Amino acid sequence: MAQEVRGVIAPGKNEPVRIETIVVPDPGPGEAVVKVQACGVCHTDLHYKQGGITDDFPFLLGHEAAGVVESVGEGVTDVAPGDFVILNWRAVCGRCRACRRGRPWYCFDTHNARQKMTLTDGTELSPALGIGAFADKTLVAAGQCTKVDPAVSPQVAGLLGCGVMAGIGAAVNTGQVTRGDSVAVIGCGGVGDAAIAGARLAGAAKIIAVDIDERKLRTARTMGATHTVNSQETDPVQAIRDLTGGFGADVVIDAVGRPETYQQAFYARDLAGTVVLVGVPTPEMKLELPLLDVFGRGGALKSSWYGDCLPSRDFPMLIDLHLQGRLDLAAFVTETIQLDEVEKAFERMHHGDVLRSVVVL
Ligand SMILES: NC(=O)c1ccc[n+]([C@@H]2O[C@H](COP(=O)([O-])OP(=O)(O)OC[C@H]3O[C@@H](n4cnc5c(N)ncnc54)[C@H](O)[C@@H]3O)[C@@H](O)[C@H]2O)c1
Ligand SMILES: [Zn+2]
Ligand SMILES: [Zn+2]
Repeated sequence: MAQEVRGVIAPGKNEPVRIETIVVPDPGPGEAVVKVQACGVCHTDLHYKQGGITDDFPFLLGHEAAGVVESVGEGVTDVAPGDFVILNWRAVCGRCRACRRGRPWYCFDTHNARQKMTLTDGTELSPALGIGAFADKTLVAAGQCTKVDPAVSPQVAGLLGCGVMAGIGAAVNTGQVTRGDSVAVIGCGGVGDAAIAGARLAGAAKIIAVDIDERKLRTARTMGATHTVNSQETDPVQAIRDLTGGFGADVVIDAVGRPETYQQAFYARDLAGTVVLVGVPTPEMKLELPLLDVFGRGGALKSSWYGDCLPSRDFPMLIDLHLQGRLDLAAFVTETIQLDEVEKAFERMHHGDVLRSVVVL
């Protein structure tokens, strides 16, 4: 029997979000219904509401979530009712060219639930990143459910489902930060701070946080930054070089995603160093760099999608590290809110007041 529950809908471009009754079908083959316990508010939800991702309104927002599997469809063996899971937007296919070559974290054919959740009048909903978890329950592909230790609080666990994983993975997986490295992170929101925490976890010797907002730099220090640079007051390229013996950092992570921050990252890294772009640019942005510098400086220019994570490998490990006290995921939760406060949370995000607001259900 399909169920009717509450969900937060973005009805149309730039219209305020609102709570509606949504219909969640029983799970079909390969699908699972998850009782959502917590879901973080991510910038991408705001992009959906603003029409910046697709025009497929109405959206069912929310995608940084943790909860308990309620029921599973035919053929589902990896998860069972009662399992505590983090939802992911990388359910790997196992068959595409990336998967077949043993690189499933690049899977080019990830999947979501086949059936649609709807409004009570039958209007089909587009779930954000194929998840849609600002809702009491949601329907996903079973591969989007990753079991982790249920000792962790759901509001903390859910964050690994998107931004925090993207940041940690940008440092650890994409940037391959290792013991003794110098690392600079430009933009210290939730994603940048997670990159800082990831760099610390990997043993970076020097972690330089760059932002235009002093409040963000203060938080970055608590996440593991050893030095901070306010790039509104100081040239960040020169500052990062000064802090690294005049050379630049081994790995520079751009967690803003603008041409000027990318250029800073490009010139603030040492010869043969790595630039990681994790911030998401907009379609009109263009980059101009002397090709001779791209050649002459060597190294690697990489982009990081979802921190090049493999949920089944990375989520349980990071939750274990958190439970052991080695990765403070709770520090990312600025506030917990109710389902009817998502619109307010978008405003606070816009003003830079929060790392993460988390809806608790
Ligand atoms: N690649 C991925 O898989 C992935 C996943 C999630 C989010 N993201 C993207 O990562 C980016 C950051 O997300 P967030 O949640 O941390 O956002 P946020 O708004 O919380 O943080 C952005 C930070 O950048 C700072 N900033 C803005 N302009 C700056 C500049 N010119 N120089 C230095 N700092 C500047 C802001 O003060 C803020 O602290 C976004 O573009 C988001 O869409 C990417
Ligand atoms: Zn694949
Ligand atoms: Zn997100």
